[in-house]
Amino acid sequence: MCGIVAYIGKREAYPIIIKGLKRLEYRGYDSAGIALLDKGDLNIYKKQGKVANLEEFASGKNITGNIGIGHTRWATHGLPNDINSHPHYSNDGELALIHNGIIENYDILREELKSRGYSFVSETDTEVLVHLIDDIIKTEKVELVEAVRHALLNVTGAYAIVILSKNNPNQLVAARKSSPLVIGIGEENEFFLASDATPIVEYTKQVVYLNDEEIAVVDLNDGLRILSITNQDKTPYIQQLEMKLEALEKGGFEHFMLKEIFEQPRSIHDCFRGRLNAEKGWVALGGLKEYEQKMINANRLIFVACGTSWHACQVGEYLIEGLARINVEVEYASEFRYRNPIINENDIVIAVSQSGETADTLAALELAKSKGATILGICNVVGSSISRITDAGSYTHAGPEIGVASTKAFTAQVTILTLLALSLANKKGTISETTFHTMLADLEAVPDKVKKILDSDAKIKEIARIYQNASNALYLGRNSSFPVALEGALKLKEISYIHAEGYPAAEMKHGPIALIDEEMPVFVIATKGTSYEKVVSNIQEVKARKGKLICIVTEGDTQVKDLADHIIEIPDTDENLVPLLATIPLQLLSYHISVFRGCNVDQPRNLAKSVTVE
Ligand code: M6R
Repeated sequence: MCGIVAYIGKREAYPIIIKGLKRLEYRGYDSAGIALLDKGDLNIYKKQGKVANLEEFASGKNITGNIGIGHTRWATHGLPNDINSHPHYSNDGELALIHNGIIENYDILREELKSRGYSFVSETDTEVLVHLIDDIIKTEKVELVEAVRHALLNVTGAYAIVILSKNNPNQLVAARKSSPLVIGIGEENEFFLASDATPIVEYTKQVVYLNDEEIAVVDLNDGLRILSITNQDKTPYIQQLEMKLEALEKGGFEHFMLKEIFEQPRSIHDCFRGRLNAEKGWVALGGLKEYEQKMINANRLIFVACGTSWHACQVGEYLIEGLARINVEVEYASEFRYRNPIINENDIVIAVSQSGETADTLAALELAKSKGATILGICNVVGSSISRITDAGSYTHAGPEIGVASTKAFTAQVTILTLLALSLANKKGTISETTFHTMLADLEAVPDKVKKILDSDAKIKEIARIYQNASNALYLGRNSSFPVALEGALKLKEISYIHAEGYPAAEMKHGPIALIDEEMPVFVIATKGTSYEKVVSNIQEVKARKGKLICIVTEGDTQVKDLADHIIEIPDTDENLVPLLATIPLQLLSYHISVFRGCNVDQPRNLAKSVTVE
């Protein structure tokens, strides 16, 4: 987590950095800070809380300078206060440094540096880096870049760092390992550095994604130089950004989350555009095509992911096993990486991640690779670490997702997994041509059906108003609607702080039923399909215990309507595609409940969008 941004060039750095920090605030909002070089002075401004607090603190001060670094923090080591905020600086005030990641051996380094006379003001792991670099400059009498290189050879953990030095007023030195760093190339040796491309896109479309264990020096006179920490020069690989600036604005919506929920007809369509043609009867995931036979022959497909992306994988398991009859396992990346799993060359490990930067998911892939498995990725962020370390993959094309609660990324992930399941099933011959064609047509119709559900937002908002003060909630579903129930519960928890649980509907009677009373809202996905009658029985069980029933049903349903306190209708579709539709009202319910409760929808407490630490 944490967002870092830096600028060097002819313009004033402060406004560029503040704007960049606002774009990166989704990565952490415990504190924010900036350091600028101005006529030989190194000035640092830091403040607990959001970037707006820093801006307020800085207002009225004459902040100038053409070189600067900025940081927005998601606290790991040390409280979220002014002192622990970045940038951190050397004892003599010559160096300032920002960091995203965790220095695992900071304790040993800290003790060593203390014994050499360094004093520490913060509780962070980061502060060791700035003192270590400073110590190397002084004892080894080397240039800044050499000192950074030597320091990083002594460090274990994850880092994306940028260093500003009074003695090197024409350059910034940056480096990365397991935390992302993008360099935007402007005109005449002007450079923008950031954790992702969102602070950069406004100024330039030309970017270089720094690789692990690479150091970048950006210099007002000498331009860009990249070297490895083992001191080999690298040729920068310049790529063209495709991101659009409008995608980073709220576009008239009150919150990014609402905008992103309403974008789903478009994002789902963008996800299958050029990959599916119902009329001609084909589906093709370009990036994964050449691995399809391998997937069909594989022992099993192991999906690794976290949070919402893990829920998407669960939907994928129902789809791929059900349609293509290929053995699928879904693992929490954080568990997989530490439980010594059995993996070999006949396994295919597929990471699913919106950001493509989630530390546990990345580590799970690295483990699988080291055991000889083929590793594939399904990511939203173009150029992200997962997309770069995998053998092949597919992008979800949902566009930037800024709200911390994932919405359009989830439906895009499920869309890709549906395309994959259909493609594999068709190739393997496990579904009939008729089913294949009907499902393609149904999938093509999903964006319009999502639009229709969004039209019932006002009704959904009224239901949310009724349950805004609930302390607990239960979400039930069967088959592929079970992961939808999990996702619905996660959405409510993370943005409204109401305790919520998702369960397979039939499991309710094995324990959670004890929780049901007249205070308990129970959200049930009860759409037409193979388990419909069974779910109706579960609904009866809730009703018998006076639970409040909010049911998502297929348009025209009458049976559940008679039992439920509220129904939300969704258009009829193939049973396999229900997750793409049933998710939408659950997202809206969570959103409105959160707004009614006065919570911070886009930046819920304690969370960060991109979890680049374990
Ligand atoms: O970027 P990723 O998809 O790898 O992120 C995984 C989770 O951190 C993420 O889905 C998280 O659970 C969201 N806050 C859910 O809304």
